[in-house]
Amino acid sequence: MERLSMLGPSVVSYDDSGGPTPRGLLLDSVRGACAMVVSLTERIDAEVLDAAGPSLRVVANVAVGTDNIDLAAAHARGVIVTNTPDVLTEATADLTMGLLLAVQRRIVEADAFVRSQEPWAWAPDFFVGEALAGSTLGIVGYGRIGRATARRARAFGMRILASPGRGAYGAKDVNVVELPELLRRSDVVSLHCPLNERTRHLIGARELESMKRSAALVNTARGAIVDESALVRALETGAIRAAGLDVFEHEPDPHPGLLKLANVVLTPHVGSADAATRRAMAEMAVANVVAVLRGGDPLSPVGLR
Ligand code: GLV
Repeated sequence: MERLSMLGPSVVSYDDSGGPTPRGLLLDSVRGACAMVVSLTERIDAEVLDAAGPSLRVVANVAVGTDNIDLAAAHARGVIVTNTPDVLTEATADLTMGLLLAVQRRIVEADAFVRSQEPWAWAPDFFVGEALAGSTLGIVGYGRIGRATARRARAFGMRILASPGRGAYGAKDVNVVELPELLRRSDVVSLHCPLNERTRHLIGARELESMKRSAALVNTARGAIVDESALVRALETGAIRAAGLDVFEHEPDPHPGLLKLANVVLTPHVGSADAATRRAMAEMAVANVVAVLRGGDPLSPVGLR
């Protein structure tokens, strides 16, 4: 904030409690702004951009995903949109592996069991999960986070498949297969693509049915890439075995069916939540604003897709 104030503009901030800025307050506080630093809980659409008015030059999202921003509306108004790629790649891949390990080795279920203080004794079939070594991880979206996840998974002895797309194009270190084949062959499917009109409900009932019954789904990307009702049904009927979810279709509320299932591990959209990463994201967003207000090029502009 200090760095922004030094540039001249006054800074209006709403972030006392965390969480989404109430819409009315957002519309009021952006009036006449030259820059906005926002998080993924703020929906930045034509109404907000118009509330800011013609002085607005840049919207800096403190996130890599920009599905909360109407890019076409920003572009039409000559407003630059920026995001925070790279700095959160390793943190998000770490959490992906955490969820993958948790669902394959049933760590959260086992923790709840110990806390229940039910009597137990070691037994060969007690809390048996699935091996990572020798199993196949299917990565949907072989971009920065997908590749960082693959690096980690290889260290656990997993074989990697990737779906076609920008990141996978020309990649020599991975077996690229079409999505239907990836879903059929993978023991764990992990989602790392952006949410847009092409990927909304990319994983629905048919896709889940096509997965192995022993397979798990991990999602640290965006909730709406998965049809969450179809996922609940697939988990209830045993079409797939387990899921590890950091993101939900209607955040902050997971589908109520998920809460009842023991074969699901849930975290509240904390993929990038380590202290160093969060600091780096904030600094990158501010650096983007400073660059634009000084008349230079932003570090990480987001183009129209
Ligand atoms: C978090 O979800 C992000 O897009 O940075």
